[in-house]
Formats: sequence, C-alpha cells, structure tokens
Amino acid sequence: MRKQIISIALVAAALTVLSSCGFDAKKPGRVYMPDMTYSNALEAYAPSTILNEDGDSVSTRKPVAGTIPRGWIPTDEKIRTNEAFLMSYMAKNYFTHTAEKWQEEYDKAGASLKDPLEYTAENKAAGAKLYNTHCINCHGASGNGQGNLVVLEDGKDGPFTAVPPDYKKRLPEIKDGNIFYSVSYGKGMMGGYGYSLNVTERWQVIHYIKGLAGVEGAATGAAAKEGDKKDDKAAAPKADAKKDTKKS
Ligand code: HEC
Repeated sequence: MRKQIISIALVAAALTVLSSCGFDAKKPGRVYMPDMTYSNALEAYAPSTILNEDGDSVSTRKPVAGTIPRGWIPTDEKIRTNEAFLMSYMAKNYFTHTAEKWQEEYDKAGASLKDPLEYTAENKAAGAKLYNTHCINCHGASGNGQGNLVVLEDGKDGPFTAVPPDYKKRLPEIKDGNIFYSVSYGKGMMGGYGYSLNVTERWQVIHYIKGLAGVEGAATGAAAKEGDKKDDKAAAPKADAKKDTKKS
C-alpha cells in the first residue's frame, strides 16, 4: 500500500513537471504565472492594441509635441540664413573647463559672436519678461546687482553669497559675445541659462539688460580699454567668485 502511494505520487509529480513542456521549443507549455511569463510592457515596434494618433498600432510613440534633439538648430529661414544666429547656436560649452579654458572660450565668443536680433520693442518686452522670471532675484529690478537673494528687504545680507556686478558698470566693459557666453554657460557663481532659454530668448534678455545699463546698439567693450585690464583677469570663474563673496 505504502509503495503504491509513493509510485502514484512520483507519477503525479512527473506529469506535473512534464505538463509545462510543449512541442514548440519557443513557447512555454502550461504557464504557472502568466504575468511573469508575458510582460505587460509593450515591445518596441511590436503591434499593440492601443492605436496611436495616426491610427497605427505600432507601439513606438512619437515624442511629446515640442520635443527637440540636443544641438538642434531651428529650420526657420531667418535663423538658418543669418550667420550671427548660426554662430550663437554653435558657441561651444565645456562643462569640465578649467579657468583658463573658460577664459579662452569667453574671449573667443567676445571676438566672434554678433547680436543677430533686431532692436525692436517686442524683443525688449520679451526680454523684460524673461529677466523678471530668471534674473531679477539676483541682479535686481534696476540691474544694480542688489536683487532680493543678495540683499534682503531690511538691508541685511541675503542667502546668495556672491554679488552680481552693476550692469551699468560691467556691460560697457564687455562685448555682446561675452555677455551671450556668460548668460548661456554661466560665470563664477552664476549658473548658465543655455538649457532653459533658447538662443533668441537669450539675446532678447540681453537687449533688455543692455537697456538697463544704458548701452545702445552693439556692446563693444569700449569702456574696458580705458579702465584697467585687471577686471578681465578677475573674470575667471574662481578668482571672481572669491572676490565677489560677501563678508558677512
Ligand atoms: C543666482 C544669482 C544670479 C542669477 C539668477 C543670474 N545671475 Fe547674472 N550674475 C550673477 C553673479 C554672481 C555674477 C558675477 C559673476 C562673476 O563675474 O563671477 C553675474 C554676472 C552676470 C553678467 C556679467 C557677465 C560677465 O561676462 O561679466 C551678466 C551679463 C549676467 N549676469 C546676466 C544675467 C542674466 C541675463 C540672467 C538671467 C537670465 C542672470 N544673469 C541671472 C548672479 C546671477
């Protein structure tokens, strides 16, 4: 009797094991846990039951509207046929740059980049809006570098430890390309805006701050020639960050 039970159990166990085998080697036989065998995730390019916006059942979806590849230059005629615009798009950034490399690229941008935008009321108004969103908290409404992250309402030191320069003093000393480079890739304690403002928006905000500084037309850095060249040296990120750190 005992032997019989054991052999029945063995046969039952063998059948259970064998039942999961199928003739087709590529398919599982009896599936014990279907949600593990069959993934719920859609396979790329495999048909799915959900149709996309074109009525197509291919599972690969289009990127969200407005998605652009990195380094993409808009197909707009005005931009593609304007050398100054193209140069702005191609200004290189080196995230791992040393102070010397930064200075080299900053000088290069100053020498080669030209402002591609027309001076219109619309561009300036757009720049004002961007300035009030992105820059005013450090640079202040008048561009004197006393934004409310730098100086609190009661006149005490704000949480941001570097003091931005007064645009009225700094902007006449540097060229359009230098301003563009600093706004795009940052300088010292200031972060870059290349990731959040497109090229046109960066030039628009530059039009606005040049207005605050009283710089008319192209910034040529003329004031730097009379002044000492030392200020140029101090432009290297590290040296400046130290210089600008407030003593509290
Ligand atoms: C978090 C604070 C902060 C914000 C926000 C900020 N800046 Fe600055 N900015 C600074 C500081 C600090 C400096 C001085 C950097 C240095 O010389 O080391 C500076 C310097 C500058 C300069 C002078 C660059 C040069 O080459 O000497 C320009 C131009 C400028 N900022 C424009 C902008 C614009 C435009 C925005 C907004 C899109 C902006 N900043 C947002 C802190 C800020």
